Amino acid sequence: MYHEVKSNFVYLIHPLPGILITSIGKNNNPNVMSASWITPISINPPLISISLRPERYTYELIKETGDFAINIPDYSLRKAVFICGRYSGRKINKFKKSNLTPIPAKKIRSPIVKECLAHIECTLERIIDLPADHHIIIGRVQYAQAHEEFFKNTYIPEKFKPLLYFGKDIYGTIDTYEHIKTEEF
Ligand SMILES: Cc1cc2nc3c(=O)[nH]c(=O)nc-3n(C[C@H](O)[C@H](O)[C@H](O)COP(=O)(O)O)c2cc1C
Repeated sequence: MYHEVKSNFVYLIHPLPGILITSIGKNNNPNVMSASWITPISINPPLISISLRPERYTYELIKETGDFAINIPDYSLRKAVFICGRYSGRKINKFKKSNLTPIPAKKIRSPIVKECLAHIECTLERIIDLPADHHIIIGRVQYAQAHEEFFKNTYIPEKFKPLLYFGKDIYGTIDTYEHIKTEEF
């Protein structure tokens, strides 16, 4: 038996990755927020999108400075991601509260998060400000790096415990995987 869940339809495609977006203002005030609504758009040119509510401080900073970074945490950072998704950088210093360390990025002004396993540095390509509660921020990838212990051409499933967000404050990770070989078919 199915039941009607239209008001929660977004959670039907969760879990989605819990990631951290870093940004910085003109007067060098860095910020970090959690996000899950993130989608790669194109490999060439390298474009990626995030959906943000325009009232987020991060949205204001990205518009102000024109760049941002996507930082990939693993499951061990779930409490930090909880904090960065529950408080606004307008009111508090979230790096301090979540024990995360901002360090300089290679190609952009926004910092990256030292404790994360991978970083994607982006410049703001375009904002699609739909008449909707979230706007689409499109970033052009300027640089990307990953911890070699956890990522070769993909994440190494024996090593990497991704942080997955189910919605409604529920976090998880994967406990199984299979590398399917073409010769099987
Ligand atoms: C796991 C998680 C994922 C989130 N994903 C998004 C998202 O994709 N887009 C968004 O606008 N807010 C998202 N949020 C909410 C923001 O992180 C939250 O409103 C945060 O306080 C905004 O911070 P800021 O005002 O410092 O930018 C998410 C929160 C959590 C905990």
